[in-house]
Amino acid sequence: MNQRPFETLTTQEAIDEYIHLIERIESHNKDYFQEDAPTISDEEYDLLKERLKGLETYFPTIKKSHSPSDKVGSAPKKGFSKLKHDTPLLSLDNAFSREKVEDFFARSHKYLGLPVGAWLEYVGEPKIDGLSCTIRYEQGKLISAATRGDGWIGENVTSNVETIKEIPPHISAQFLDLLPEKFDVRGEVYMDHATFSDLNSRRAHTQEPLFANPRNAAAGSLRQLDPSITAKRRLHFFAYTFVPISPIAPPSFPTTQWTTLSLLKKIGFPTNPLSRLLSTKEALWEFYETIKNTRHELPYDIDGIVFKINDINTQNDLGFLSKSPRWALAYKFPSRTARTRLLDIQIQVGRTGVLTPVAILDPITIGGVVVSRAGLHNEMDLIRKDIRVGDIVVVERAGDVIPQVKEPILAERPKVSHPFVMPKRCPVCESPVLQEEGFASYRCTGGADCPAQALEKLIHFVSRHAFDIDGLGKKYLEVFFNQGWVRTPSDIFHLEEKNSSRDHPLETWDGWGALSAQNLFRSISEKKVISLDRFLYSLGIPHVGEQYAKILARHFISLQALLDFLEEAKDPSSPAYAELISIEGFGTILANALIQFMTSESTKKILRDLLGTTNDPPLIEILPFTPLAQGPEPFLGKTIVFTGTLQKRTRQKAKDEAERLGAKVASSVSKNTNYLVYGQTPGSKYNQALLLGIPILTESEWEALIT
Ligand code: IVH
Repeated sequence: MNQRPFETLTTQEAIDEYIHLIERIESHNKDYFQEDAPTISDEEYDLLKERLKGLETYFPTIKKSHSPSDKVGSAPKKGFSKLKHDTPLLSLDNAFSREKVEDFFARSHKYLGLPVGAWLEYVGEPKIDGLSCTIRYEQGKLISAATRGDGWIGENVTSNVETIKEIPPHISAQFLDLLPEKFDVRGEVYMDHATFSDLNSRRAHTQEPLFANPRNAAAGSLRQLDPSITAKRRLHFFAYTFVPISPIAPPSFPTTQWTTLSLLKKIGFPTNPLSRLLSTKEALWEFYETIKNTRHELPYDIDGIVFKINDINTQNDLGFLSKSPRWALAYKFPSRTARTRLLDIQIQVGRTGVLTPVAILDPITIGGVVVSRAGLHNEMDLIRKDIRVGDIVVVERAGDVIPQVKEPILAERPKVSHPFVMPKRCPVCESPVLQEEGFASYRCTGGADCPAQALEKLIHFVSRHAFDIDGLGKKYLEVFFNQGWVRTPSDIFHLEEKNSSRDHPLETWDGWGALSAQNLFRSISEKKVISLDRFLYSLGIPHVGEQYAKILARHFISLQALLDFLEEAKDPSSPAYAELISIEGFGTILANALIQFMTSESTKKILRDLLGTTNDPPLIEILPFTPLAQGPEPFLGKTIVFTGTLQKRTRQKAKDEAERLGAKVASSVSKNTNYLVYGQTPGSKYNQALLLGIPILTESEWEALIT
């Protein structure tokens, strides 16, 4: 998954990533909610959703009105009748760090107008990894049950829920006075570990597909059109909420979450015995840590702790966001780790020659995925943690990112082992390795002569944000490279022309035919015209990513103008050099790398080969930069001042938003201020802006202009 920091993305890149992410999430939603057969782990899914939410927060203008982040599930499965929920069955907001939980406290406490330092009572409950279910009782009798569905309409699973032994079909008459006439009990249906492994071994026996985890097994079992199958699957239930439906609840009706749980238990529902009333923040962290550290002893899966404000009136004051309550939060447990032996540390040589150590592991399954290679961050990390070949190491797999070696288990270190040392010569081309000044990284000095660098450069050259040549991925490039067919960028554009004169042309290769060869040649020739920013990015100039490539293209408009300018800028005392380092975001490191790379003989040769000479026709065409046909940009280059307490965003977020729109944010009002945006209790800046006649916007007016 793309994990580039948001601040390095252009709006267009954010949109591309956003659309792609939505497609992925929707397809996973279908696998998960409708097929009960997810193809990725929960952590991976959570990361996708987090990234989507991050993009929407950072680029508020790109948010779609029906974003998956506003949805809590998926449409009901076909074959079931539907049941509309009287109150929607929403989801919970997730936090993955203490900091994010603190943000939640701060947000909800601020919303309630509590003084700083005030504290509320919370209930901590294990977050059961099952599927939510709402059960309707009327006059004490179970009359219907539904899954969550899309949050508003669920599947009618009444007959199936009736087979779950621990869900009472009637509430004992002695309790009816304590309850409203009509109510819903909500909770989680789950399958315990023993039932899950029994079920899967029986399925293995009969060669039926296995369930990926107990949660999917529970979902697959509850959502059976034939309830007799559900009955055989021994499902369980934990109740966590009570929703009164008929108008009047008796005066004794619980006013806290904690007493709700007691009532649920008293009238016959299983409630989770680990839940606790937490009166202090310390108690809350302690509860989380204790459950986290002992969860593997539980006979069922939990994936976090739910913190709920105990007082129900306070919950009602806080209300709901579009898909989750403001009064509860799920603090998820961290990603999974496992221990295994580190068999080797291999050195990979990247496109710009940077050497990256990679851990080769005794293969191990973490969260359902076999891991045999892992990242080691960098050499400094390796040395600091003293990770050695032969060690038993802790490996962490967090979502869609490459698993990482966290640390060695020193107590289990073999008698003979050696600290890791970075090789002095490149493992591929044997050129000397140098440590870059000011950077932790080591680089192979072989440049384009190093086959590893040359291949990585070519892979980068055709990649999605560069020339974007369909069908020419890493796999085939590597083969063409090893065959000697493609060694430089220009070879790619000669591939078709030279193919017919080869002994074994492409169409005679195993797995290739005339059609696939023609398709490849066509995709290459379709990409012969390229924009300047993409072209600069494709060259793989050290430190120049898409963002800087765009800045360069915008600044210099044409390649020739850039090249002429860099020739002048070779002299560090030249005005050209001074101009270069003053371009937004550039410094001397980037400027020097750019000059060195673009004026080197090897780059000049690449450019000559691609762009032609008096004797050779050009192979590609580079389009000069033209500003995107965009709508008006009212804040571009404008100076904005914020004052007072904003209600919907932190000051930092408001600043980020303004800056994304090309504005500058100043801390005081002057005649150069273009807009003042004010929140609650604005200070003297407001009066000053009035005096100076500066346009003044409320937060909502500002929001309307930026969305
Ligand atoms: S309270 C308004 N409490 O987690 C929603 N949910 O990711 C209130 N879950 O949809 C939900 N254990 O299916 C709550 N102790 C617990 C829970 C719990 C598991 C599930 C539930 C919910 C999902 C959100």
